[in-house]
Amino acid sequence: MARKKVSVIGAGNVGAHTALWVAQKEIADVVLVDIMEGMPAGKALDMMEAAPVEGFDANISGSNDFKDIEGSDIVVITAGLARKPGMSRSDLVGKNTAILKSVIDEVVKYAPNAILIIVTNPLDIMVHIAWKLSGFPAERVIGMAGALDSSRLKAFMGMELGVSIENISAMVIGGHADSMVPLKRYSTVGGIPLPQLLPDDKIDALMQRTKTAGGEIVALLKTGSAYFAPSAASAEMVEAILKDKKKVMPCAVYCDGKYGLDGVYVGLPVILGAAGVEKIIEIELDEGEQAAFDNSVAAIRKLVGELTI
Ligand code: APR
Repeated sequence: MARKKVSVIGAGNVGAHTALWVAQKEIADVVLVDIMEGMPAGKALDMMEAAPVEGFDANISGSNDFKDIEGSDIVVITAGLARKPGMSRSDLVGKNTAILKSVIDEVVKYAPNAILIIVTNPLDIMVHIAWKLSGFPAERVIGMAGALDSSRLKAFMGMELGVSIENISAMVIGGHADSMVPLKRYSTVGGIPLPQLLPDDKIDALMQRTKTAGGEIVALLKTGSAYFAPSAASAEMVEAILKDKKKVMPCAVYCDGKYGLDGVYVGLPVILGAAGVEKIIEIELDEGEQAAFDNSVAAIRKLVGELTI
């Protein structure tokens, strides 16, 4: 049986590391595409030369020609500008919208049956644009946000409690912005909800750190933004889909009816499998959680409403 094919558009920090995680885990063959001449081919070759050391069998190739994404099962889009210090995600909208438009045209042409995973920020807007411009059914256009935000929360929980990350589960819903909603009642350690393990002030600090985790890394790096965790989270989604794992995880999905919402992409818990988003899971939110979620949705709607696509 031939291996599955994943194309990663944008061979920068996030794209290249996504390719490496996917290949290293032998999830699929990977095609890296970028507009920078030679760069994706160079990175792909470098990774292929690492394969004998790491012992993985998967092909990684790089190209400047979108024709090479033909027949992809999944296309991960990371093309765009990364956030610089002092730059908000919203500042990126104009530039990354133009890039996304050109990429989506090529994806529709060469990989019309692929599942799209959008990584480019500002995520909530980019995924909405990708869905609209591609004309693909919403279950095949998914935003990578909750996988990353919940992984960050899990990491902070592990650091605070000094326990194995294997015991930790966490849920972050809403937008991929400071208004995101980490849910303490649905974040657990060995099945025990966080409020039973830590006092409120400690939990609040973890939640706050999660909301600003991207910015924390931007400030430390000084140039560019996070890429190890974003690429790992992207690869997690690729694996859930290609292995049809039916994994329950938060993703930015098109909400039409659930949670009393319609016509908006927002982070929610879903079942991720071979068909893409196979189900949006409705969880009970208390008053405070609902208010925070409503606030996050309103922020997304405002940004999407300002678009002129
Ligand atoms: N087609 C293909 N690739 C493109 C295009 C295009 N039209 N336009 C830009 N690119 C490429 C750039 O050449 C660059 O190599 O996208 C790549 C982006 O890589 P980086 O600048 O390293 O940015 P990265 O850190 O990978 O972040 C990419 O992911 O997490 C988000 O906020 C982040 O939106 C950003 C994206």
